[in-house]
Amino acid sequence: MAMQTTVIDHPLVTHKLTALRDVHTGSPEFRRLADELTTLLGYEATRTIAVAPRQVETPVGTADGVELALPVPLIVPILRAGIGMLDALARLLPEADIGFVGLVRDEQTLVASTYATRLPADLTGRAAFVLDPMLATGGSLETAITMLLDRGAATVTAVCLLAAPEGLARLEATFPSPSARVHVVTACVDARLNDKGYILPGLGDAGDRLFGVI
Ligand code: PRP
Ligand code: URA
Repeated sequence: MAMQTTVIDHPLVTHKLTALRDVHTGSPEFRRLADELTTLLGYEATRTIAVAPRQVETPVGTADGVELALPVPLIVPILRAGIGMLDALARLLPEADIGFVGLVRDEQTLVASTYATRLPADLTGRAAFVLDPMLATGGSLETAITMLLDRGAATVTAVCLLAAPEGLARLEATFPSPSARVHVVTACVDARLNDKGYILPGLGDAGDRLFGVI
């Protein structure tokens, strides 16, 4: 099976994504919507997370349940814009560790370069969740996912608010069968990229809309 892509087709997700796209939505509202969308996408992104049996005593009996299996997952927001998704996933997975990768795209060549890496050296057996609101050419996520697989991550799930077909095709080519360890979860696959590498119709520059123009 090739890389898996899941598009979350849910009216609440589409409603919030529409408001996020709106050019009239300012930073405070944009941050809140990005947080809420990540919670909703995170619910699906964690659907196959490993659990172990756990029995608990209720006030009136014994219940068979589960708890997250060890080793704990790793959440990796891609700086800058992925920081806008971190709180939401960390609330869903409070046990998880958090690593950081800083990537910036050259605006002319569209090539992503790495300016920060704070990741555990050994991720053997661990599930990793990469957060990046925009999957455009796919260069940034290709770099981040490769770092995590090279360190031994058992699975890498990328949570993206928006994806372009060009970026998905690139990741499918880079992580083909049998690399079924890679999964992309997104709220929408948009039409295409423009000649500046922006997603159309997209939402503009996610980092600038979250944190201001540099
Ligand atoms: C943006 C966005 C993604 C990346 C996607 O980051 O936040 O990380 O571009 O593009 P790609 O799929 O073509 O690589 P940017 O480089 O603008 O940095 P920022 O998050 O600091 O604004
Ligand atoms: N990065 C963004 O922030 N927006 C895009 O449309 C493409 C890359």
